[in-house]
Amino acid sequence: MTKRFVIALLICLVTSSIVFAAPDNALIQSNGNGMAVSTHPLADLAGQAVLDNGGNAIDAAVAVGYALAVVHPQAGNIGGGGFAVIHTADGNDYALDFREMAPAAATRDMYLDEQGNVIPLNSTRTYKAAGIPGTVAGMSAMLDRFGTKKLDEVMAAAINLAEKGHPISERQAGVLAANHNKLSKFPTGRKYFLKADGTDYKAGEIFVQSDLAETLKRIAAEGPKGFYEGKTAELIEADMKANDGLITREDLAKYEVKWREPSTAYYRGYKITSMCPPSSGGAIIAEILNVMENADMRTLWAASPAQALHVMAEAMRQAYADRSEYMGDPDFVNVPVAELTSKEYAKKIYDRINPTKATPSDFVRPGLTQLHEGTNTTHYSVVDKFGNAVAITYTINETWGSGAAVEGAGFMLNNEMDDFSIKPGVPNVYGLVGGDANSIAPFKRPLSSMSPSIVSKDGKTILVVGSPGGSRIITTTLQVIANVIDRRMAINAAVSAPRYHMQWLPDELRLEPGNGLTNKDVEELVSMGYKLSLQGFMGDVNAIMIDPETGKITGSHDTRMEF
Ligand code: GLY
Repeated sequence: MTKRFVIALLICLVTSSIVFAAPDNALIQSNGNGMAVSTHPLADLAGQAVLDNGGNAIDAAVAVGYALAVVHPQAGNIGGGGFAVIHTADGNDYALDFREMAPAAATRDMYLDEQGNVIPLNSTRTYKAAGIPGTVAGMSAMLDRFGTKKLDEVMAAAINLAEKGHPISERQAGVLAANHNKLSKFPTGRKYFLKADGTDYKAGEIFVQSDLAETLKRIAAEGPKGFYEGKTAELIEADMKANDGLITREDLAKYEVKWREPSTAYYRGYKITSMCPPSSGGAIIAEILNVMENADMRTLWAASPAQALHVMAEAMRQAYADRSEYMGDPDFVNVPVAELTSKEYAKKIYDRINPTKATPSDFVRPGLTQLHEGTNTTHYSVVDKFGNAVAITYTINETWGSGAAVEGAGFMLNNEMDDFSIKPGVPNVYGLVGGDANSIAPFKRPLSSMSPSIVSKDGKTILVVGSPGGSRIITTTLQVIANVIDRRMAINAAVSAPRYHMQWLPDELRLEPGNGLTNKDVEELVSMGYKLSLQGFMGDVNAIMIDPETGKITGSHDTRMEF
C-alpha cells in the first residue's frame, strides 16, 4: 500500500471517527410491566399496551410483529418469515423457525439460463423470488403455545393502524423515496406504496392500508387459515399465476413451522441462547466468541483497539468461511454445529492468529477440512414482569422484498429465495457465496444470518438482542453481547458503540462512519495488512437488558436509525 494511499485513508477514516454517543435519552426505562423495543415507536406502543393489560412477553411479541407489518412494511411482514428465541419464566428456552420454504416447483437451477449462468435479478426482483411465507404461522404457533391472550386481541392495534392509517415518519419517507424505482416496477408496489399520482408519501402524511387491514382481519378471525387457506391464499395464488410466480394454494397449505433446539454457547460464564440452523446466526456467533474467549478482550480494548479488532476480525474471517461451506437447512443437510462451536476448534483458530499480521482471505478455507446480504430485516425484543423473554428477527429479505405486493391482499412479498446459493460457489447478487448445503430444493429453507439471542447468567436473563443487516446481523449481535460482557457497557452504550465487520470475502475490515479509531489504530491495522473499508452504518439493534441484582429493566433503540 503506498504512503499516499495510507495518508488519504487516514484523513478519510479519522474525519469520520466521531464515535456514536450513547445519549441518556437512548436509555429506555421500564414502567414495571416489562418492555417491548422495536424499530418503530408505534409497534413499541402496541406491545406495551398488551403488557400493561396483563399480557405476557409472547402476547406482546405477536402484537409487535403484526404492528411492524403495518408501520414498517419494508421489513416487518406477513409475507416473509423469521425466527423467535423464547425464554419462559419456568426456565426453559425454545427456538421457533418460521423461515420461508421453497415452493414445490422450485428447482436447484431455477435462476440460471440454459448455459448455466445466473440470470440477473431473477432471484430478487420477480414473483419467483418469493418463498412460502412463514410469519403468520409463526405468530400463531408461539401464541398458541405460550400466550395468554386471543389472537384478535393482540392484533387489534395492527388492524387499527392499517385501517385508520399512521403518519409517515421522516425515516420512512426517506426509505420510500430511496426505493421509488423498485416499488414502481410492479403494479402492486405502485398501488400500495406510492400515492395515486405516482409520487412518494412525505413525512407526516397519513398512510392507510385498507386491503392489508382486510387481510389482517381474516387472520384475526380465522388464525393461520385466514392466510394459508381461503381468500388470502386465493389472492396469493392468482397473483403468482399472473406474474410467473410459483407459490400455489397447495404450497401454502403445506407450510409448517418447526420448533427446534436453540443454539447454546457459553462465553466467559454467560449463556447465549440463539437461533440454530437454518439460521447460521447462533453457531457463527458461538464460533467467533469462542475464539475471542482465548484473549483478554477487556484489557485489549483498553490497551490497543487495533489488537482487539485483529482478534475479532480473524475469528470472523474463519467463521464466515465455514458458514459458506457447511451450513444449510438441517432438514436436508447435516450441519456440523458441534464441531464448528467446539472450544477445541476455536483454540486452533486462535493459535493460528499471527499477532502482527492479518491473514489474507485467499489463504483461509472452510476449516473443518461472502457475503453481503440484503439489509432490511428487523429485530425486536420483549420482556415481561413474569420472567418471559422473546427475541424475534423477521424479514422479507431486501428492503421492500422483491418490490411486489399481493394484489388485493396489500402485503409485500419476500425475495428470500435469494438467500439460497442460486448457483453453488458463485456469488449471488449481494456477493453471497455458498455450497451444496444451501442449494435450492422444494420445501427447503434458505440459510439465514438472523440471530435473535438471549443472554443469561446463573439462570437469569440479562440481555435480549438481535439486529437486521444481512451478513452483518451476526457480527452486530455478537458485538453488542461482547460490549456488555467484556466492556461492561450499559445497554445504550453497548448498542451505540461503533461496529466492525469482517466476512472472509470480500477480504476487508468494514468500518462505520463513526468508527472511533484513532490515527494510530488505523496505521496499526493497515500495517498488519487489513484492507479497511469505510461504508454505511451497520445494523438496527433493539435490545433490552435486565440488571441481575436489582431486576431493573432498561432498553435501547439504535441511535443509527432514529425516527
Ligand atoms: N435475509 C437475510 C437473512 O435471513 O439472513
